[in-house]
Amino acid sequence: MATQELTTGQTRMNTQELIRESQKWLDVISAKELTPEQKEKIATDTVDNFSYYYNRGYLEYRKSVIEMRDNPALEWVGEGSTFQDLTGRTYIDCLGGYGIYSAGIRHPKIVRAVRDQLDRMPLSSQELLDPLRGALAELLGEITPGDLQYSFFINNGTDAVEGAIKLARLFTGRTNFISSLRGFHGKSCGSLSLLGKWEYREPFLPLLPGIHFVEFGDADAVIEELYKADQTGKGIAGVIMEPVQGEAGAIVPPDDFWPRIRKACDEYGALLIADEVQTGLGRTGKLFGVDHWNVVPDIMCLGKALGGGVMPLSAFISTPKIWGVLETNPFIHSSTFGGNPLACAAGIAAINVTLEEDLPGQAAKKGKWLLAQIIRLKMRFDRLIHRTGGKGLLLGIEFVNTEIGYKVVSGLFRRGVLVAGTLTNSKVVRLEPALNIPDKLLKEVIGALEETLREVDDATPDIQKDEE
Ligand SMILES: Cc1ncc(COP(=O)(O)O)c(C=O)c1O
Repeated sequence: MATQELTTGQTRMNTQELIRESQKWLDVISAKELTPEQKEKIATDTVDNFSYYYNRGYLEYRKSVIEMRDNPALEWVGEGSTFQDLTGRTYIDCLGGYGIYSAGIRHPKIVRAVRDQLDRMPLSSQELLDPLRGALAELLGEITPGDLQYSFFINNGTDAVEGAIKLARLFTGRTNFISSLRGFHGKSCGSLSLLGKWEYREPFLPLLPGIHFVEFGDADAVIEELYKADQTGKGIAGVIMEPVQGEAGAIVPPDDFWPRIRKACDEYGALLIADEVQTGLGRTGKLFGVDHWNVVPDIMCLGKALGGGVMPLSAFISTPKIWGVLETNPFIHSSTFGGNPLACAAGIAAINVTLEEDLPGQAAKKGKWLLAQIIRLKMRFDRLIHRTGGKGLLLGIEFVNTEIGYKVVSGLFRRGVLVAGTLTNSKVVRLEPALNIPDKLLKEVIGALEETLREVDDATPDIQKDEE
């Protein structure tokens, strides 16, 4: 942090000071050990830097700050399913970076691949052919279902959805889409247009036109929208759905939903887009969420866990027939960093680990046990918990109101268990640990949850239910 006069809007560090300030942080990055004074300074500098240079709004919402005003928890080092803050306090990671740590934090095989590639060539010229991009595309073409075969690589889930939107529009020559209420697809303008929650959309309206929203899981509603669009000459380019809605709280659709919308898309010439950014690579107990219903989408979006919890990496994948429209002019969609060798090395290693350790199988088994425990707790604390559900290790607990949810989330945090949920959004809390989380840690999570629920139950004699 520079000085106090930041509100004047001038740059206050001269060149020498800037070199010293950046060197100070380089020394922190390289330090093998830090003294208690250094740690304290890092903590105060971090809060100041967020406040003056990043976004002070975070300081009001993060439980890691709110719960520890004088000594906020700073994420520092992690391995597998645990991480430590700067003071050395250990947490069980039951959030998994909202789905990125399916293989755990710093999986040695994935770290090694990235490190080896880093020592050879980190990014690419984008002129010569790069072997890892081809290798990762081959692996994805082989593991994705049906005739999905060609991939394009980018860095975030939202980029994958943007690519899917453009591909569906190019292939069909149509512009309209069907999406789901409370569905989450990213926050750049195209993907935000498909996102079904008013709070993220309203300030940015108008977004892309021609987006029709239906209740998630309601195949009749999808068919009706396809029919109406067809009859009025609008035509639907694509129907986009998450196999299991993640951000909405691990909502599983009825078993006939995906097969029925597959059939309807074929009937009306619309492309079926599976947004597997959160569900892909084993999270729900199968390699891909759509595998639960043996459905092959026309376009699949992957992200989060694809980078192995080490590099940002996402992809959209489609069939040879559809990909043809990108081949006439392969530069019609491009990205400077998309498919860089470091990210591809991580992706190749992530696929290797997912298959070698049978992460989908582990997610199915561990998820079944965890869900059974949560259901048991719901029966015991039904004043507090409204709904539970999910698939594999994408599980949700819906509390009767946001306040109860936040009390539970912060109670768990005090007990060293990290789950999703913030001050503004804690009614539905997700549990998304690494798919290889040791059973012993899962038992500790349930122990901490039971203790927290008991505490919140005792401390809250009157409970108001939030409006639906
Ligand atoms: C299903 C789904 N799609 C897209 C996204 C957007 O991904 P990103 O935040 O990497 O842009 C997310 C993020 O949570 C997601 O869950």
